[in-house]
Amino acid sequence: KNFEDWLKAAPKSELHLHLDGTLEARRLLSLAEKTHVPLSYQTLEEVEVAYQFENLQSFLDLYYLGASVLRDEEDFYHLMMDYLQRCRENNIVHTEIMIEPQTYLPNGIEFPVFMAGFKRAIADARSQWGQSALLILSFLRHMPEADALHVLDLAEAYRDDFVAIGLASGERDNPPQKFTELYRRAGERGYRLTAHAGEEGPPAYIRAALDDLQVERIDHGVRCVEDEPLVEELRERQIPLTVCPLSNVRLHVFSEMKQHNILQLLQRGLKVTVNSDDPAYFGGYLNDNFIALYRELNLNREQALQLLQNGFEASFLPAEAKQNYL
Ligand code: ADE
Ligand code: ZN
Repeated sequence: KNFEDWLKAAPKSELHLHLDGTLEARRLLSLAEKTHVPLSYQTLEEVEVAYQFENLQSFLDLYYLGASVLRDEEDFYHLMMDYLQRCRENNIVHTEIMIEPQTYLPNGIEFPVFMAGFKRAIADARSQWGQSALLILSFLRHMPEADALHVLDLAEAYRDDFVAIGLASGERDNPPQKFTELYRRAGERGYRLTAHAGEEGPPAYIRAALDDLQVERIDHGVRCVEDEPLVEELRERQIPLTVCPLSNVRLHVFSEMKQHNILQLLQRGLKVTVNSDDPAYFGGYLNDNFIALYRELNLNREQALQLLQNGFEASFLPAEAKQNYL
């Protein structure tokens, strides 16, 4: 109990968080009514049943449908502000938030609308309680690379608002190699580079993200253990893995938390961090993830301290800003 309180109170950094994944069911249902988006679930009880996912794709189907209820600047302001309030409650002093314009653009919602809401919320949280937040421009890998290249150009008007680009959505059959030109151009334009790899996809996708996309961080990456030389390279280069324990269990990457390999990865010297991914869908924010590791995997204080420190070290903050947290 004492240790759980200590975990909750510890200052944290969150590096793998999809903003659309923070849309709470209650707000989702009320916005769906307002915008006339038809959902097959109408009550919080029905949502709970609908959120029993079989795999990544069955989650993504509801996740994109859920995000389609967001329409005006106020919706985007509140989405961001609600998450930043959760940061405060979870003692997440620094966060790096994935924004996915390809979810909004097909509904006719353009950069000026969502960016105005997001930026206003971040400015408010920064001035009200000193919240630190960076944005990651995250692309959807089930879409063609040409679409991503177009969105990268649209984002030029907001170049200073994004520290990095990322790559998310259905991993199977959408290998990193599909986005080589996107990552080349983004690198040229000074974006830091990260990508989801080795969540449902094979270790070869982690290798391709490193070699073909030149990423400096891997989102998930837990399937690296199937390729021993790859584990050695990740350790040698201290490539951060942004691991999401509750997400992995809910999407059946691991059958139960007791099977999760995060502490083995840590033990082997990999730069592992703890993150919540899509907390409104997976049953918990960052503190819940840490507490699950304690309850199910006997996370100890030394391991927790290492995970917390990794969270800051692996951030995209400039070196001077990082020092303030280490
Ligand atoms: N988009 C939101 N959450 C995701 C995840 N866990 N994997 C891939 N794409 C996602
Ligand atoms: Zn993710």
